Amino acid sequence: MQVTFKSLEVPQEGTAVVVLFENGVLTPGATSLDEKTKGFLARALITSGFKGKKGQCLSVMAPCHTSFERIIVLGLGSLDDCNERVATESGSALAVELLKMNCSHVTLLLEGVVVPGLKNHELGCHLAAGLLLRSYRFTKYKTNLKDEENHQIKALTILIDFPEKGDLLFHKHAAAIKGVFLARNLMCEPPNVLTPKAMMEELVALKKLGVKVDVLDTAEMKKLGMNALLAVAQGSANPPYLVVMEWQGGNSNDAPLAFVGKGVTFDTGGISIKPAAKMDEMKMDMGGAAAVAGLMMSLAGRKAKVNVVGVVGLVENMPDGNAARPGDIVTSLSGKTIEILNTDAEGRLVLADALWYTQNRFHPELMVDLATLTGAVVVALGTKYAAAIGTAQQAIDKMKQTGETIGEHIWQLPIDERYDKDINSKLADVKNTGAHGAGTITAAHFLKRFTNDVPWIHLDIAGVAWSDEVHPLSGSYPSGFGVRLLDQFITKHYEMSV
Ligand code: BES
Ligand code: MN
Ligand code: ZN
Repeated sequence: MQVTFKSLEVPQEGTAVVVLFENGVLTPGATSLDEKTKGFLARALITSGFKGKKGQCLSVMAPCHTSFERIIVLGLGSLDDCNERVATESGSALAVELLKMNCSHVTLLLEGVVVPGLKNHELGCHLAAGLLLRSYRFTKYKTNLKDEENHQIKALTILIDFPEKGDLLFHKHAAAIKGVFLARNLMCEPPNVLTPKAMMEELVALKKLGVKVDVLDTAEMKKLGMNALLAVAQGSANPPYLVVMEWQGGNSNDAPLAFVGKGVTFDTGGISIKPAAKMDEMKMDMGGAAAVAGLMMSLAGRKAKVNVVGVVGLVENMPDGNAARPGDIVTSLSGKTIEILNTDAEGRLVLADALWYTQNRFHPELMVDLATLTGAVVVALGTKYAAAIGTAQQAIDKMKQTGETIGEHIWQLPIDERYDKDINSKLADVKNTGAHGAGTITAAHFLKRFTNDVPWIHLDIAGVAWSDEVHPLSGSYPSGFGVRLLDQFITKHYEMSV
């Protein structure tokens, strides 16, 4: 989709979109089209009982006295409540309407629209961002697309007061959205295609954008002693990789922020095998690593002024004669021994070594891990909030705030030594499952033991990364959760201003 910001010249073809708030007062764009159509638009609004609720759309076909094919009125809810999230989600609702109606050329008339909390160009950018985010589709493996699957918004022209400001801001949104789409694409790829090696190669391709990428293979990980990660991989015919991505946009001596992702390209559960129903969905078990990759793409795409490292452990968890057994004890990179009681609690084994490696090599200011780690988080929070657990309280507070602004919500669960006891092992230093509920929290406590007390946040994204429930900004299936959240979190709190 081509997005262009302009002012003054109104194209006269395709679909015109105007916005309306619940107060019913015509916005300047609506007024001009109402005048042009000699009162037709205002009559259509009254006849249809249009209320201007957030995301509500009214389409009128073949309006008279204009060469537009149709006019769509988009509701933005109450004027006083209009903020970044409302605008973004309304843009998404508009995308659904435009795609349904097969509108390929669209003009959004926003000049002169004044909102208390948003500048005119910000309103335009957030609407466009929502529109793009919701237009995503993954059709690579369909050889015979149905008509409606072929619908595409080709060109979006946004009329705002200061187009150059729109261009400048939207450049950043566009970079983040590219990152989101990378994450979603990776999650949609089937597990026979997206093996750890294939995913590693996709990440190596980020070099084109100026990201430094290092790859550790099995031999190198063996040498270092990453036996927790390797234990997960040993049942698979597809070898594991640890991929280290670095973006150096800040001062060379500033400690980086580190993002660590669980990249299990397929999780059968291993010997503790999962039931057959919906096992296919475990191809999304690399969603944390995909989000880290998307974030790196965004930072590089918009040349963020910050130092960031992304580390992902890519493995496949399979049952096999060589697979790890329940009862195995392995020595992790940290030197701590782990008793593997359940081979399906594999994500934390991968992260144990990835986290230790990351803090030891980079001494980050803050370490954030993203993982589709537990089914328990789906029980606790469903598909609307990711769980955040960690030791960096101020950063958690800031991240929560950012999440509310951009529409990727996180909810904090406690860190508490009483839960930590639950993962003490009789035979080793730690065991990989607890026995007294709170599965999301005990998993986080397991990870905490491998952070070496570096300020840290764990995001359990198992519920939000992939869902058949419709999410406003992503529809159903992969959301790319984490890319925009962390991109904005970095922009607001860590990037140097010029
Ligand atoms: N990848 C799963 C968690 C998951 C569940 C992700 C549902 C997405 C949707 C993880 O590896 C897992 O299997 N966790 C186990 C841990 C248990 C064995 C302690 C779980 O949550 O059941
Ligand atoms: Mn598992
Ligand atoms: Zn898993």
